[in-house]
Amino acid sequence: MIVPPRHALRASRALAHRWLYPPRFPPSPSAAGPTVHVRPWRRADAGSLAGLLGCTECEALDWISKQPLRLNFGRSAAFAIVARDSDEIVGRVELIVRDWESGRAEVGYHVASPARGRGMATEAVGIVARWALGDAGLSRVELLTDPRNRASQRVAEKCDFVLRGERSGQELYELRATAMRNSRPSMRVESPPPS
Ligand SMILES: CC(C)(COP(=O)(O)OP(=O)(O)OC[C@H]1O[C@@H](n2cnc3c(N)ncnc32)[C@H](O)[C@@H]1OP(=O)(O)O)[C@@H](O)C(=O)NCCC(=O)NCCS
Repeated sequence: MIVPPRHALRASRALAHRWLYPPRFPPSPSAAGPTVHVRPWRRADAGSLAGLLGCTECEALDWISKQPLRLNFGRSAAFAIVARDSDEIVGRVELIVRDWESGRAEVGYHVASPARGRGMATEAVGIVARWALGDAGLSRVELLTDPRNRASQRVAEKCDFVLRGERSGQELYELRATAMRNSRPSMRVESPPPS
């Protein structure tokens, strides 16, 4: 009889376990700050998302329809950034899990040009990073940005991310759960307004 090596057995057991019990994000990750709230995408947002991404409404709808499954399987969590004064979608922020074992995820974001410079990206990234390291149970959130993207670097700095070095020509910032627990809360997080 051929006996598979022990590491192969361990790897297949881990795969089977992950398939049977996929890591999941906690429900209702919506949260609000003073000027924006972040919430999961809805089908009705397809037009706004198409405007943000520069794609067709059909492509945006297709992307939105895949998000609940990605969230359920713990792969990523994508949110619309909504201005509280106008209730308009001004941007997006997304958390992509790189490795559940070590609790590592990456955050990406984008705010539409007319809404920039009002602190909206900072607020939205802060909300999502805190949710990721709090309720979602991850241990570190990474943020990669072009070395020339000063606006993005400022967002990282204002959200208490620490510059760790460089990865693939990008600046690598990181926020750890341990650091977050020790720092004073820099943002008031409220319940989201009713949808
Ligand atoms: C990066 C981005 C999300 C920032 O959005 P925003 O809502 O304007 O961000 P905030 O208002 O929260 O903060 C912006 C900060 O950058 C600063 N900033 C903006 N443009 C800048 C520039 N050209 N040079 C230097 N600093 C700049 C602002 O002054 C502010 O810092 P301050 O509060 O210390 O004054 C937005 O510019 C964007 O979507 N860019 C394109 C996509 C992108 O680069 N995403 C990040 C990929 S990691």
